[in-house]
Amino acid sequence: MSRRILIAGNWKMNKTSAEGAALVKEIVAGLPKGNLPEVLVCPPYLTIPAVVEAAKGSPVAVGAENVHWAASGAYTGEVSTGMLLDAGLTHVIVGHSERRQYFGETDETVNLRSKAAVEAGLVTVICVGETLTERENGETASVIDRQTRKALEGISDYSKVVIAYEPVWAIGTGKTATPDMAQEVHAQIRAILTDIYGETAAESVRILYGGSMKPANAPELLAKKDIDGGLIGGASLKAPDFLALVAAGAAV
Ligand code: 13P
Repeated sequence: MSRRILIAGNWKMNKTSAEGAALVKEIVAGLPKGNLPEVLVCPPYLTIPAVVEAAKGSPVAVGAENVHWAASGAYTGEVSTGMLLDAGLTHVIVGHSERRQYFGETDETVNLRSKAAVEAGLVTVICVGETLTERENGETASVIDRQTRKALEGISDYSKVVIAYEPVWAIGTGKTATPDMAQEVHAQIRAILTDIYGETAAESVRILYGGSMKPANAPELLAKKDIDGGLIGGASLKAPDFLALVAAGAAV
């Protein structure tokens, strides 16, 4: 496979600066030798400097969990792409379902954030996924289609785009989509990418799975044709688990 596997930790609202730095040091020390997948951790804003410092000179990349689209201005509580770059970040997550569920994020704001992030040169992990009700109502395909197309509107540089499929009902619940269920949606996303960017481009874009991914289920998920890595919450907070996921990524 030509796509490089990406193992990404979304720390959400967890870890102090000291805890985050210690976690990264443990991860760096335990990285398998030889071929590595791309490894990314995304800590909360305030702890970014400590985590960047701890990851310095290592293969572990650091990203943010969100970003605003404006360069600066009266947007209380927000952070710009320039600020992320200034802090030494290379990646950012956009449109996580928790942002959509609890903080009023819409397809439109996800698009604005994604566009700004890609234009700033950040590798942008755009999250899409259906809720349990949507899945039960047979709306999974239409939700994925709408969220993916809207998020990518006006984005031409697909080389900075990563899509994360995170079924909302699988996040933090211990319920994982079966590898076949996940693959079905990943293939649909690949088809949408093909429709927008053409086949060669679509083949180069990573599509991650997220939702209760852990060492026990990762190998089966990562073995699927269109699953190019993981966006991991709970299991990214403990070095041994995260390292096992990195090893699973290296084995693909
Ligand atoms: P969990 O791995 O805790 O289910 O979280 C997944 C997630 O939301 C990653 O962004």
